[in-house]
Amino acid sequence: MFLVTGSTGNIGAEVVRALAAAGEPVRALTRDPGRAPSLPGVEYVAGDLNDPASLRPHLKGARGLFLLPGYEGERQVLADAAGAGVERVVLLSGSSAGLPDNGNVITRFMAAAERAVRESGPPWTIIRPSAFMSNTFQWLPQLREGDVVRAPFATVPVANIDPADIGAVAARAFLTDGHEGRIHMPTGPEPLLPADRLRILAAALGRDLRLEALPDDVAREEMLRTTPPAYVDAFFDFYAAGTLDESIVRPTVQEITGRPSRTFEQWTAEHAATFR
Ligand SMILES: NC(=O)c1ccc[n+]([C@@H]2O[C@H](COP(=O)([O-])OP(=O)(O)OC[C@H]3O[C@@H](n4cnc5c(N)ncnc54)[C@H](OP(=O)(O)O)[C@@H]3O)[C@@H](O)[C@H]2O)c1
Repeated sequence: MFLVTGSTGNIGAEVVRALAAAGEPVRALTRDPGRAPSLPGVEYVAGDLNDPASLRPHLKGARGLFLLPGYEGERQVLADAAGAGVERVVLLSGSSAGLPDNGNVITRFMAAAERAVRESGPPWTIIRPSAFMSNTFQWLPQLREGDVVRAPFATVPVANIDPADIGAVAARAFLTDGHEGRIHMPTGPEPLLPADRLRILAAALGRDLRLEALPDDVAREEMLRTTPPAYVDAFFDFYAAGTLDESIVRPTVQEITGRPSRTFEQWTAEHAATFR
């Protein structure tokens, strides 16, 4: 049995799906099981990563723990996992955790989570994916209003990864040998600009969509309406100052899962209904 945190989110849901598809029983953590979907072999359980005691009963009998980074309770959750005899922790981290400079809040919390996992005892695997294709859902409110998407960092190419590929990599890290103490850095198959993603999405939806590149000062102002300043600074550090290069394509998904990483065309085809 595997305990999967973030199970209602883009990545955790794919980890749940991949483990369940492999016939593994899953405990899927959410703060609100009442709103969780119903999936065969999956038991949705209540817990909050900021309240480690709420996870303790769910760790009993778990072979593996899939952990999201950056929560207050992570060291205690990891200590409890070790105490419960969990045999493998797979941590979702991010590509910035590997940067030499811990100068921004995102890099800091990812690196701290990685340190906690390395120091926690149970065998571990860390996944540092590139930015997710599902970040494209951020455009949904604009797409409901019209055909123009105003996007920050429009000149920055990113090899966005399909969450399904992260789920598949995590499942292999749990279920097959050779992943202990390793950091996997899966990416999507090609670097895409925001305008490339919008073009592909437009084709899938049969809509005439146009990207408007936001100048950095306007982008900062707009992001500050919904995002804490330290996080806005981190994104500017990565994508405006260019400290993070997420355009690099790696063969990790193919090497670990035996199939190529999924394209943005595949992701949009699968999620077209959400955009309609
Ligand atoms: N976006 C990227 O490109 C990127 C790249 C690398 C790494 N990451 C990391 O990946 C993480 C997951 O991304 P995602 O897109 O899957 O997120 P998401 O779709 O927003 O889902 C967040 C998940 O976290 C759970 N959650 C939130 N607060 C919680 C708490 N206090 N205790 C327990 N669970 C809690 C939510 O569950 P309930 O609401 O059901 O409780 C939900 O399942 C991000 O938070 C980030 O740290 C993101």
